[in-house]
Amino acid sequence: MSAGDVLILNEVSKAYDGRVSMLDRLFGRKAKSLQAVREVSFSIRKGEVMGLVGESGCGKSTIARIAAGLMAPTGGEIGHPGRLRQQMIFQDPFSSLNPRWRVHDIVAEPIRTHGLRPKQEVSARVAELLTQVGLSEADGAKFPQAFSGGQRQRISIARALAGEPDFLILDEPTSALDVSVQAQILDLLRDLQARLNLTSLFITHNLPVVRLMADRIGVVYLGELVELAPTSAIFEHPRHPYTRLLIDAAPDLDAEDRSLHPIPGELPDPSDPPSGCVFRTRCLFATDRCASERPKLRKIGPGEVRCHYDLDLTGRELVA
Ligand SMILES: Nc1ncnc2c1ncn2[C@@H]1O[C@H](COP(=O)(O)OP(=O)(O)O)[C@@H](O)[C@H]1O
Ligand SMILES: [Mg+2]
Repeated sequence: MSAGDVLILNEVSKAYDGRVSMLDRLFGRKAKSLQAVREVSFSIRKGEVMGLVGESGCGKSTIARIAAGLMAPTGGEIGHPGRLRQQMIFQDPFSSLNPRWRVHDIVAEPIRTHGLRPKQEVSARVAELLTQVGLSEADGAKFPQAFSGGQRQRISIARALAGEPDFLILDEPTSALDVSVQAQILDLLRDLQARLNLTSLFITHNLPVVRLMADRIGVVYLGELVELAPTSAIFEHPRHPYTRLLIDAAPDLDAEDRSLHPIPGELPDPSDPPSGCVFRTRCLFATDRCASERPKLRKIGPGEVRCHYDLDLTGRELVA
């Protein structure tokens, strides 16, 4: 932790009480609790974009909700040194905007709630925000249904910026969009990032997207942070076997196929994770030690890795 940190997660865990289906109830099966996030630690520095990447179901949205303070962790601590005004942008641009409100009122809401502008200046501020995200002042009079997915995500971004956030959490903000629209929204976010010097947590299952957006990347597998390093280091020399497989399997940014299972093998049942290292059942290098001993997150090179070993530059050999 340092003076410039905006958010700190320290060994944060989250267990959900198991879901019990009708069928489970019929057979008298009890709910199994599920460890969705396990001892995740990272901090975000002012002005940086921290990326989180991992397959569907690995716990990304759970981490997002905890970071946003929408949900308490069941273990560990979360800290926000200093004042923090945060806003969140979600994946689904259809359910995240109130269909009964005009766009003007949707964008004005955080300004009014936080009393950020005098009453007579709110409309001008809304017009400025709509322009900033590539919409027009006249769009404020319409309802969300009048817009496409990409335009709705622009409205969500305008609404988030209206709250003048110190910290922005984006949970798969472009995953529901067509590839060409995704590129436009990523461009817009990058531009705003640079102009407004935003601090953000950017979450996606798409490695090329996080590479484009983030200064540092955390790689998540089955609820655990397995590698954390500056973006260039992640791609130049991935140290964790999972990171390496993700990179080798990543599609191009503009590929149409955005499959959520980029690497071979099945994701283990999160309510019954493997012993030792959670990744060992899909790891090309797993040893006996990996089954018996859970690796600690340790510093290697410019980053941190949760592996007993260290992958060399070729990605084919382990260094003890
Ligand atoms: N409210 C909940 N109750 C029980 N299990 C949940 C709940 N929300 C998420 N989960 C489970 O927790 C795991 C992580 O989910 P999530 O954080 O949504 O992952 P991601 O965003 O990476 O897809 C998944 O196995 C998911 O099924
Ligand atoms: Mg999610």
